[in-house]
Order: sequence, then structure tokens, then C-alpha cells
Amino acid sequence: MNSAPWWKQATIYQIYPRSFFDSNGDGEGDLPGIISKLQYVQELGVDAIWLSPFYTSPNKDGGYDVADPRDVDPRFGNLDDAKKLINVAHSLGLKVIVDVVPNHFSDQHIWFQQALKAGRGSPERARFHFHEPNADGTPPNNWISLFGGPSWTQVEDGQYYLHLFDSSQPDLNWENPEVVSDYEVTLRFWLDLGVDGFRIDVAHGLVKENLLTNHPDPQGISDALRLDVSMDPEIRYALLPTVPYFDRQGVHEIYRQWRKLFDSYKDREVMAVAEAWVHPPVNSTRYVRSDELHQVFNFDLLDAPFKADFLYDVVTRSIDLMDSVGALPTWALSNHDSPRVASRIGEIQARALALFVLALPGSCYVFAGQELGLPDGDIPDSSRQDPIYFRTKGAQKGRDGARVPLPWSGESAPFGFTSGSPWLPLTDKWKELTIEKQSVDPKSTLNLYRTALKLRTDHLIDQGSITWLESPNHGSKSDSLLAVRRGNVSIYMNLSDIAIEVEITGKLLIVSAGIVDARDGKLTIPPLSTIWVHH
Ligand code: NOJ
Repeated sequence: MNSAPWWKQATIYQIYPRSFFDSNGDGEGDLPGIISKLQYVQELGVDAIWLSPFYTSPNKDGGYDVADPRDVDPRFGNLDDAKKLINVAHSLGLKVIVDVVPNHFSDQHIWFQQALKAGRGSPERARFHFHEPNADGTPPNNWISLFGGPSWTQVEDGQYYLHLFDSSQPDLNWENPEVVSDYEVTLRFWLDLGVDGFRIDVAHGLVKENLLTNHPDPQGISDALRLDVSMDPEIRYALLPTVPYFDRQGVHEIYRQWRKLFDSYKDREVMAVAEAWVHPPVNSTRYVRSDELHQVFNFDLLDAPFKADFLYDVVTRSIDLMDSVGALPTWALSNHDSPRVASRIGEIQARALALFVLALPGSCYVFAGQELGLPDGDIPDSSRQDPIYFRTKGAQKGRDGARVPLPWSGESAPFGFTSGSPWLPLTDKWKELTIEKQSVDPKSTLNLYRTALKLRTDHLIDQGSITWLESPNHGSKSDSLLAVRRGNVSIYMNLSDIAIEVEITGKLLIVSAGIVDARDGKLTIPPLSTIWVHH
């Protein structure tokens, strides 16, 4: 019996509620839809679900623009549905993590509406970052929004307010005790409803420094923060620590207070995971100090090439880094903000990488649809919704591709997701990828995940860390072979497009693609494939 807290090596399934399952035909997924499919999630073999925001929201940023963090948007259902979802998940043995978005509210939140009315110098404005323009009328500083354009918007009386993201997402002022205590009310609200943990949006952004000072290179820091802008790594790494609104020391005090609140719930092991893109990587360990949060997302695999030396570095660095503070790493191949892994590195490669990663120590986050090998959807510009697309005037296409709803059943789009018209179009090309088809195909990606998750539980999670058997830095047979041993299981990933033979005896537990040839104490690992062998 594993006595470690449940989250330490959990697999956590990320549900983007709008895209999961629509129960009422309005074209958008909803909480009753999720409830009706929780059995599917449980049978996948994950330990927990993480729900992206379903709170009251004008939905300018996919619900990350929250107008009431303690209520459910009618598009998704109501609080009774949320309560029922938590209860049904628990009855199926699934933990529930909800998203919290403490960096900003929606401009439709009552506080912001009050701030607009109350005017300059008021306590209502002091909950946000309202400031006077410069003498020439320009914004208080030159920061650029992460979604493009200036990060300040002017209101009628001439003051500007800060928004690191869309202008509909005013940043909260975390130096104001009212903000601190209101957030505690929100955390307690969801804990009292029964949730097991939180995913903290922009966890590294709450505290800003030098708010009224220009940055010497605003475009530089803005580019450095974007994965899709290529930049000399030295320049990028020199710029990132100078970002005055991310990863400031003050954020840690907030999480120390939150930790006390979490620990006061003695009836369960509450966990929180930080979304914190920080540099240098060692800074991420600060978020998981023993009196702060429990996990911090590791985003290194979201844009990693399918290359042995690169992956070797990411895996060793991630494990060592977290080990230095007695924590375990987290792994994610896809999420709602990045291109889907099957589109980025190829479907067969994505299967191989997933099987490799599921064997590693730590917690794995699986973005709904990843278990189907879904690629990004093809979206005509006329259907796009992401504010990034609009704020960059189409220069960046944004993140809608990864958010296309799931194909459940049937022969044509929208594949049972909705009886209405889906909020983003599904394509008929996904005919073979539906959950219905994949459920009965032993070779499907869905069944690969199901089998791997079961084997992970049975053979791996109690087994401590890994030892490298083969790597580009470890006298490997090939530049394209990575292999680790964990407990009684050896895991080999062949990243090349030719089969590789290794001397190894044992029972083949699983292969991500192709046929393994076994004879005379040797196994042939198929091209672009991962195998697990039990000794
Ligand atoms: C990170 C979330 O994952 C993303 O979807 C959102 O747009 C930003 N934070 C702003 O809340």
C-alpha cells in the first residue's frame, strides 16, 4: 500500500469543460456533460481530474476571465452541478482539482465595475492597479500584454489600469489586504464544496515590481516569454529574470499563507499546483518548498523536439531539480495553451513519448484528447475565439487548435460531442479517432493509455527513481535510444526510424507501436516506439 499523499505520483486528467461533452445541445460542453462521462475518465485509469475554469465569465479568454470565482457560469450549469460532479468523481475514486485565477478578474467582476464608478483614489480602485497617465498621456509604463498590445487600458476619467493579459482581465493588486482575504474566501468556498486541490493560474505573476518604471526592452521580454518566438537562448535567458511582473519574491509569502489554509483541511490531503513559467529553472523549486505549494508545472516537454539528447537533458534536469528540494517532477505533453503533442511531433512519436513519460517518477498531466492521439483542429479564421488572435490582429493564430471538442462517437462531425453546432468545428477526418472506435480497437492510442496507466500503477509508482541504461551521454548503442530502469521494469524508447536491437531478457509488458521481435536474449525495438520490459 502506498502511503505517500495521493498527488505525489498521480496522473491528472485535464478537462477543458467547454470542449468535453455537451449535455444540452448548445454547442458547448458543460458540467452535466462531464458528470455523464466520468465513468470513461475512471476507466482510463487516471487518479484525478483538473477542471479548467467553469466560473461565471464573459468568456473573453476561455473562462480565465472570471467575473465571479464562487459561482458557475450558466453556460456550464450551476453550483448544484458542481457539487454533484465532485461527489460523483469521488464515488468513482477520482480526486478533483479546480483552477483558480488569482492574477486577474474579468472586467465584469463586481469589483471592477465598482472601481470604474468610484473613480480615482478610491478604495475600489485600489483593488486593481489604476494609475495616472504620464505627462504626455501615455500609459504609466511600457509593458506589453502577453496577448499582444499595451498592457494598460485607459478608462473614461483618464486613468489607466494594468492587465498582463486581455484588456478584459484587469490585474488584481495583491498588496491590498482585501484581495488577499477575498481569495481566501474563494479557496475555502471550493474546499468546503469538496475539492481536493487547485491549479493556480499565472502563479508567478501576482506580485509586480517597478510598476511605474519603463522596462529597457519591453519587446525583448515579451518575445522572451513566448515559446513560438525563436531567440538566441543566451539573450532569452538574460532577459527572463528581468521581467518585473513574474517570479518576484513576494509571491512566495502569498503561497505560505495559502498553505496554512490548505493544511487546515485535515479531512483530506489538499494539493495545489503552480502554473509558473520561471527562469532560471531552479527558481521553480521555490514554489514547492515544504511550506508552500505541492507541485509546479514542468513545461519543458510542451515544446521539446523528439530528440534523444534533448529529452535526456529535460528528464535528468527535471528530476534532479525537484529532488534538490525533496519534491518530484511533473510532466505534461499538451495542455489547452499549446499545440497538441500529436500535431507537434507526430502521432506515432507522441505515443512513444507518452509511454516513456508515464514510466517516470512524479505526476503526469494528460490533456483530454491526448489519450486519443488527437491532433490540433483545423480552424478557419472566421471561427477563431482566442484573444491572442484578435489582439495580435491575426499575426498569431492563438490556441484554439488544441481546444476543439472531443470526438465521442459516430461517423461524422461533431461525433456525438453535441446535438447542436459545436463552438469550434470538428473535422470528419477524425472518424477513426472517436472514443467509440478506439475503445474497441486493442491497438488504439486510447487503449495504449489505458494499459499503460494500469501497468504504471501495478509496477512503477512505488519504485523510486530511475537509473539510466541508455542515453546519448551514457555509452549508448545509438544516438536515438533512451532507456531507464525503474524497479523491475526497463523502459526503452527508440527515437529513430529503424528498429534497434538490445540485449535484454524479461517479459514485454507493452509496446507503443509496431511488433517487438524477441529471440536469444535480444529484443528488437520497433522504430519510433517505446517498450516496457519486466524482469
Ligand atoms: C494561463 C492559462 O492557462 C491561459 O489559458 C490563460 O489565457 C492565461 N493564464 C491567463 O489567465
